[in-house]
Amino acid sequence: MRAIILVGGLGTRLRPLTDNLPKPLVPIAGVPLMTRTLRRLQAQGVREVVLAVQYLAAAFHKRYGDGAALGLRLRIVEEPQPLGTAGAVRYAATLAGELSDGPTLVLNGDELTTLDVAALWRHHQTAGGLATIAVRQVVDPTAFGVVVSDAAGRVTAFQEKPAAGTALANTINSGAYVFERAAIEQIPAATFAMLERDLFPQLLADGAIIAAYPHSAYSQDIGTLAGYLAANAAVLLGQIPGERPLGREVAPGIWAGAGVQIDPAATLVAPTMLGAGTQVGPGVLIERSVLWERVTIESDATVRDAVLATGSRVARATLLVDQAVGSQQNPTIEA
Ligand code: GDD
Ligand code: MG
Repeated sequence: MRAIILVGGLGTRLRPLTDNLPKPLVPIAGVPLMTRTLRRLQAQGVREVVLAVQYLAAAFHKRYGDGAALGLRLRIVEEPQPLGTAGAVRYAATLAGELSDGPTLVLNGDELTTLDVAALWRHHQTAGGLATIAVRQVVDPTAFGVVVSDAAGRVTAFQEKPAAGTALANTINSGAYVFERAAIEQIPAATFAMLERDLFPQLLADGAIIAAYPHSAYSQDIGTLAGYLAANAAVLLGQIPGERPLGREVAPGIWAGAGVQIDPAATLVAPTMLGAGTQVGPGVLIERSVLWERVTIESDATVRDAVLATGSRVARATLLVDQAVGSQQNPTIEA
């Protein structure tokens, strides 16, 4: 199997964490999301991956090179200008100048998921359409693309981000697809186009067969602070098969990387991740938070539902709640 992973978004909702780091490289319980994704894909039989990036391409090159260390043939392509989710697929798929024959897996790169892509691939081959969309049920579909399908499992409508009260179903696009070459050929080259707003509606209008692949795998978008914390919590609490935090478990749901120092008079509440080299002072309370590497929490500070980037410092007696702190930024709310 070969896969294109869409990793072009600017990660604006995770700022300042994503000021210097592309969103897919943020650590989930100590391991970058993209590393977790690439490992999972390799274990499921993917051998060739193209990362379709828009900015900070050098960060991906530096970390993954040609992918050999992960058992993959990895290429990183940077779009000359933002091409949208469809334009990026077209651009990445024509890397060698020509579209390859056979199907291609396409994945959003901002989710932690246990989706079985081999099963999605098999479903696509049995269904025999131009494309297959992995779908799942949610309570509130307004932040997603809604996928309506008939009794035969064929998609009949695609509705991106429906306004409240207008969603046609609770089944959503979970951001994983298989495309035949003929579907990718319908995307115009070198112009901005989206799978969700352009390609799918166009294929449906043309009467093409798009299959839906229903699944109930864990899927968590990490693009907001709440989503990021939820993905970390799930891994820290051992709820995601195959995904382990980095480091050792110092108490149930509390993990610490190498060289972490925790004062005996500090209180930690799970799920919490303390990245390598982090120092926690006396009287500190850390609840449900994710600390990257070499973070310093000075005495009597309270950190709750927060994320602290590598090298950040929380000053003495500071109260930090529901916030992400970048390396350069200091917490502002004093206790
Ligand atoms: N290369 C490239 N170029 N990648 C892009 C571009 C682009 O112009 N635009 C977005 N991406 C990448 C993002 O980095 C992300 O991994 C993926 O495409 C989806 O974009 P998001 O901006 O995260 O979309 P969303 O979360 O609002 O909605 C999408 O995902 C939902 C599932 O989480 C849609 O596909 C929805 O239909 C879907 O339900
Ligand atoms: Mg997203």
